[in-house]
Amino acid sequence: MRHVLAALLLVILNLEIVNAQTSGGDSVIESLSASPGDPLRGRAIVASRQTGLCLLCHSGPFPEERFQGNLAPELSISAGRLSAPQLRARIMDASRFNPGTIMPTYYKAQNLQRVAPKFIGQSLLNEQEIEDVVAFLVSLNK
Ligand code: HEC
Repeated sequence: MRHVLAALLLVILNLEIVNAQTSGGDSVIESLSASPGDPLRGRAIVASRQTGLCLLCHSGPFPEERFQGNLAPELSISAGRLSAPQLRARIMDASRFNPGTIMPTYYKAQNLQRVAPKFIGQSLLNEQEIEDVVAFLVSLNK
């Protein structure tokens, strides 16, 4: 529930981000987590209406999900043209690539503006969850 509210809040308020992420180019090369991402857990996060909420805007290969978004690129097409470091960077903080994006910032918890007090300092997904989602997207490209 916390994630849903936080994601909706971020979407509605259309965040302005002050600082750029501390990584070069258009990629975040290092994995965020100690253990490797798990594609099955990642799939569950992406399809979940509680945690990832990705299908609010994106569509993808989820035959069991009737209602999928059409506001954003189809996920397997993006997975086909972006590397794991590029996918990681976009999931962490899509506003690096388009300051006006409606996509929530899933990982950066610093320097967000207009965040409700109870969500300050929290990211929408944790390190392991980001890596699970990256692993799932990479698996679409096989
Ligand atoms: C509120 C809508 C919204 C949600 C929720 C959302 N996205 Fe996005 N996403 C977008 C939009 C719109 C873009 C296109 C980039 C832009 O905004 O300029 C995008 C871009 C991307 C890209 C880059 C696509 C490309 O081809 O360049 C990836 C990867 C991505 N999203 C993954 C995800 C994942 C994974 C989730 C869930 C954890 C998610 N998104 C949740 C709206 C959303």
